[in-house]
Amino acid sequence: MNYRHGFHAGNHADVIKHAVLCCLLARMAAKDKPMTIIDAFAGAGRYHLALDDRAMRGGEWQGGVGRVWPDLQDDAPAAFKPYFSLLTRLNPNGLLHHYPGSPLIAAAFARADDKVLVNELHREERATLTRTMAPFPHARVYDMDGWQSIRAFLPPMPRRGVLLIDPPFEEAGEFARLRESIRVIRQIWKTGVTVLWYPLTPYGGVSAFSQELIQVAGDVPTLQLELILHPPEERGLYGSGLVILNPPYGLEEDAREIGSTLEAVFHADPGYRQRWIVSPD
Ligand SMILES: C[S@@+](CC[C@H](N)C(=O)[O-])C[C@H]1O[C@@H](n2cnc3c(N)ncnc32)[C@H](O)[C@@H]1O
Repeated sequence: MNYRHGFHAGNHADVIKHAVLCCLLARMAAKDKPMTIIDAFAGAGRYHLALDDRAMRGGEWQGGVGRVWPDLQDDAPAAFKPYFSLLTRLNPNGLLHHYPGSPLIAAAFARADDKVLVNELHREERATLTRTMAPFPHARVYDMDGWQSIRAFLPPMPRRGVLLIDPPFEEAGEFARLRESIRVIRQIWKTGVTVLWYPLTPYGGVSAFSQELIQVAGDVPTLQLELILHPPEERGLYGSGLVILNPPYGLEEDAREIGSTLEAVFHADPGYRQRWIVSPD
């Protein structure tokens, strides 16, 4: 396990994932019913962009949230508001130093009756995660293998909820594991909202995954979105994607607004695309 998210915190892939996740959780929290939020591959939960050695050496945030926040802060489209208001709360003096990982985002949107279950296998990352989550009494930190945790956590209580699957993609076969997870989720938690993240790299796997999604998703409403910054090069991340099972009402429009705004801010070409794999109608 070499992956450390600190190198990548706040990069373009984090921005689209976290901005969409914030909208999704805001919509879920708008309904007066408790929920469980599960993060199977949680990371450290919080990153210091100016002090964390990895964030500084990686520097990826400068081409991600470091561009988006100054560019949009004064006149942000509505769909950025949940994400930006969290960034503002974490950075009240206006300097972008603190960046939230998905567990902190989950905790920030959770209400008193909600549960937040965050799982991280890496010992040091989990130690930081435990400190990050300490102020949130409804959050619990686990140390399972992320893929196994999905079976262990599902179906949650409260049953209404959100599951984030955001693996490091440092081993072969992770697209196959995402597919298998969708199959398990359909069997035991068909009504749950699931967000799966994946990288766009030249190493392959994504086109087969996308083609198979329609069979794997079956009759579960499924939205797919991708932000492609530039055509694939020999190496490296050229974009990222999200697959969302059972997206809450209105998220389709939020995601489109976020994606098309990021396309402009990042001068992404070919840019943003979004489609229903299985439409809710
Ligand atoms: C992409 S990062 C998570 C980022 C986080 N979800 C966010 O958005 O802020 C993936 C995390 O999974 C952890 N990890 C790697 N293999 C794992 C496994 N088999 N089970 C659980 N966690 C694992 C890594 O240590 C890393 O912190």
